[in-house]
Amino acid sequence: MLIRLSNLCKVYNTGGVEVHALRDIDLGIDRGEFVAICGPSGSGKSTLMHILGCLDRPTSGSYFLDDTPISGYNDKELSKIRNRNIGFVFQSFNLIQQLTVRENVGLPLLYNRVPVDEIQKKVIDILGDVELEKRMLHRPAELSGGEQQRTAIARAIINDPSILLADEPTGNLDTRIGQEIMSIFSRLHKDGKTIVVVTHNDAVASYAERQINLMDGMIGL
Ligand SMILES: Nc1ncnc2c1ncn2[C@@H]1O[C@H](COP(=O)(O)OP(=O)(O)OP(=O)(O)O)[C@@H](O)[C@H]1O
Ligand SMILES: [Mg+2]
Repeated sequence: MLIRLSNLCKVYNTGGVEVHALRDIDLGIDRGEFVAICGPSGSGKSTLMHILGCLDRPTSGSYFLDDTPISGYNDKELSKIRNRNIGFVFQSFNLIQQLTVRENVGLPLLYNRVPVDEIQKKVIDILGDVELEKRMLHRPAELSGGEQQRTAIARAIINDPSILLADEPTGNLDTRIGQEIMSIFSRLHKDGKTIVVVTHNDAVASYAERQINLMDGMIGL
């Protein structure tokens, strides 16, 4: 099992008010699975994604990634795990506006001190995969929503992570473009990636092999 959560809880404490965002979550995801996480607003979906993606730590309980217990890791250790294993796609694309498509996509490799000529080659390869070679020198403001999300997907996979996490990746796109984005995830899944997608939309969830429903921070039926 690639991901295993056991008795996992997340409590936010803001100004003395406690919010139990995740309560006693037990969850396993196999390597190569394609999972959708659904549930109403405020049910804990993004909180769960942040923990799965090592952007945040649980308040209690365990997280095993590839059988390694990582719940106690500090920020530096978590960011190492994140760089190596995890790619993120967000609803609002989160591209850097000042950088071109090519620069946005190559950024994770630059952080990992990959030589520049190798970066160029990989970026061009991956932009071909998401059909964006012709937009390489554009900045995000000069792209359609679908093109921006394809850029974000290219950036998320350039390090070849085993896990791809997407939080409402089609939330800002119309139905047809949303389907295009989900077809890319399906293709990546066929290529062996483990994919977790948060969505409110049943049609989007139907691309996944398994649906997990969150309700008030708990996994339901
Ligand atoms: N940083 C934070 N500090 C305090 N409370 C938070 C924080 N982030 C989330 N929460 C609370 O935790 C609960 C779960 O939030 P979360 O963002 O995980 O929900 P969600 O299912 O992603 O909702 P949505 O569908 O609206 O994105 C909510 O009640 C929210 O108010
Ligand atoms: Mg959310």
